[in-house]
Amino acid sequence: MNDLSMRKFYGWFTALGLLVSLLVVVGFYKDTSRPWKTYQRQYIEQEIRRASTPQEKLLAETTPVEIHQILLPELHRVDRCTTCHLAVDDPSYAGYPEPLGYHPLHDEHPFEKFGCTICHRGQGRATTVADAHGDVPHWDEPMLPLKYIQASCGQCHQAADDPAAPELARGEQLFEDRGCRGCHKLHGVGGNIGPDLDNVGARRSPEWLRKHFLSPASVTPGSAMPPQKFSETNLEAITMFMLSQTGEQVPGYYASMKVIPSSSEGQRLFEQKGCIACHSIGGHGGKIGPALDNVGVRRTPEWMMRHFRDPQAVSPGSVMPQFGFTESEARALTDFLLHLRDQRVVLSLPALMTPVERGREVFHKYGCAGCHGPAGKGGVPNPNAKTAEQVPGLIHVADGYTKKELKARILDGQKEIAAMDPKRPPPPLYMPSWRGTLNDAQVDDLVAYLFSLKPKGEDLGF
Ligand code: HEC
Ligand code: HEC
Ligand code: HEC
Ligand code: HEC
Ligand code: HEC
Ligand code: HEC
Repeated sequence: MNDLSMRKFYGWFTALGLLVSLLVVVGFYKDTSRPWKTYQRQYIEQEIRRASTPQEKLLAETTPVEIHQILLPELHRVDRCTTCHLAVDDPSYAGYPEPLGYHPLHDEHPFEKFGCTICHRGQGRATTVADAHGDVPHWDEPMLPLKYIQASCGQCHQAADDPAAPELARGEQLFEDRGCRGCHKLHGVGGNIGPDLDNVGARRSPEWLRKHFLSPASVTPGSAMPPQKFSETNLEAITMFMLSQTGEQVPGYYASMKVIPSSSEGQRLFEQKGCIACHSIGGHGGKIGPALDNVGVRRTPEWMMRHFRDPQAVSPGSVMPQFGFTESEARALTDFLLHLRDQRVVLSLPALMTPVERGREVFHKYGCAGCHGPAGKGGVPNPNAKTAEQVPGLIHVADGYTKKELKARILDGQKEIAAMDPKRPPPPLYMPSWRGTLNDAQVDDLVAYLFSLKPKGEDLGF
């Protein structure tokens, strides 16, 4: 075909081009604007039906069909979810099918201040179901499945203290108990063998995390992370805790309830402020103030709150300092003192613990169990290591080391692990050096703990 015969098609090309563009625009328009209008009309019809006076009816009939949005500059969000979820704050819509249902639990978190995506994720600005819920390619923040919604609470509340997020608290507990910190840093504390977990919840999906826990090497070939044995409930809880680590820093007001007043927060304050210097619990501690074991019987919560605010105002001449607690700190301390008769609370105060008990805490906190197994029982694979291709257990160290040698061993660590077969890749797990991370007293406590692990009765053979 020559140039001339081509030219007579140009008109057609232009027309076709225009038609295609038009179709794209129409398709786009249909896609983006229809569904939310339908939901708004359904809502308006519902309101008209419910109207009991002519005024209400008129009001409903003249409700404009328009995009609704919540502007949240501090959270860097614009949430349009209420364009479809129109009745979230109207209790009379409880039990209605979505998107017209009433939202439970919003008294503490008013929508005009919190919006929706800070808890649910998803795409705040979008106005189609798929886009808003984030079920689209190239959008890296899909909505959290509802069963993991507690993951969001951890952004603004201390997981362990949130009474409304028990599964998240369980996940955090598992993280500490299983020794994940032996290999991973979270908020600056932990080892270097695995990646930092500070924003893993923004990088990984629930499905990925679940699969990875059960078999790390099937997701990351050659992974040095040992497969984790979790029951289904625990697997969900640890996945939830990982999802809560988004690395997003919430500002000012939003972080003001980082600590929900609770007994465990009260205990932290009690330790931090040195109350034990003047007061005793279970017979341990100072004698300047009264023993606190039964204070919950002697005093009402209201009395305690007033006393914390200003001890001299309640007990004239008292030498107890005015600590300047915030309202929620005073609430937390009061809660703690009311629960004092719970023995577990008493035993975990460091000032009242034995070196062995403190050593066990250090072992936990720094994740020794991640490599040496729970309570140092071993069993963690270390492919190609001379010691049975495993990280050694620690229950027999009392036989091979003096206390001084053991202390040096922990402080020095060991980078080069003897390989069984020099042709295979070297063992991935090594003993980190703890010098600079643990102080002298902590290592002494660790040594006391490790010596205590030796099974009883083993020396009786001779
Ligand atoms: C275009 C209308 C529309 C928009 C915009 C929209 N939703 Fe929805 N939403 C729906 C519909 C319809 C349903 C019920 C059917 C479904 O789950 O897809 C629903 C269901 C839900 C559910 C329940 C899911 C479940 O598993 O039961 C949640 C949570 C939710 N939406 C949150 C949000 C959030 C957060 C936003 C804003 C980022 C949002 N929605 C924006 C229409 C919308
Ligand atoms: C403070 C966190 C938080 C905020 C903010 C929040 N939600 Fe929720 N949402 C939740 C929790 C938690 C649930 C699960 C409640 C339950 O069933 O126990 C939930 C449930 C839902 C459901 C399912 C309701 C059901 O009963 O199945 C929808 C839909 C929903 N939210 C939409 C929204 C929309 C739209 C917004 C913004 C206007 C919003 N949420 C804001 C925490 C939040
Ligand atoms: C964006 C930050 C943020 C998120 C996410 C969040 N909260 Fe809150 N929460 C707050 C703030 C701020 C308050 C205090 C509200 C006020 O009193 O003005 C609060 C209050 C509370 C309270 C009441 C505390 C008290 O004793 O007064 C509870 C319980 C609570 N949140 C539980 C949850 C749960 C459960 C979730 C997850 C579903 C959650 N929060 C998600 C910030 C957040
Ligand atoms: C013996 C060391 C070790 C222990 C203990 C360990 N991990 Fe890992 N972990 C690793 C290594 C190495 C990687 C990187 C390779 C991979 O992706 O599997 C990793 C990867 C991960 C990842 C993926 C991180 C990302 O950014 O892709 C998560 C999540 C994770 N670990 C969570 C945990 C949790 C939770 C625990 C405790 C239950 C734990 N790990 C215990 C060594 C360990
Ligand atoms: C990242 C994995 C890892 C972590 C975390 C770790 N260790 Fe080790 N540890 C090892 C390996 C591997 C060896 C074996 C070294 C060798 O082969 O000589 C070892 C050896 C030891 C030994 C000598 C055991 C023996 O039988 O000679 C002691 C004691 C020890 N670790 C204590 C600790 C303590 C205490 C902690 C926590 C503060 C800790 N380890 C954390 C990997 C780890
Ligand atoms: C310098 C010593 C001192 C310190 C530190 C101190 N207290 Fe006191 N406390 C006292 C004295 C003296 C009294 C008795 C007089 C009074 O009621 O104020 C007292 C009374 C109390 C009472 C009332 C007991 C009762 O049976 O009437 C409570 C509760 C209490 N303190 C809690 C605390 C807590 C919690 C802390 C730490 C945040 C703390 N105290 C720190 C000296 C102290």
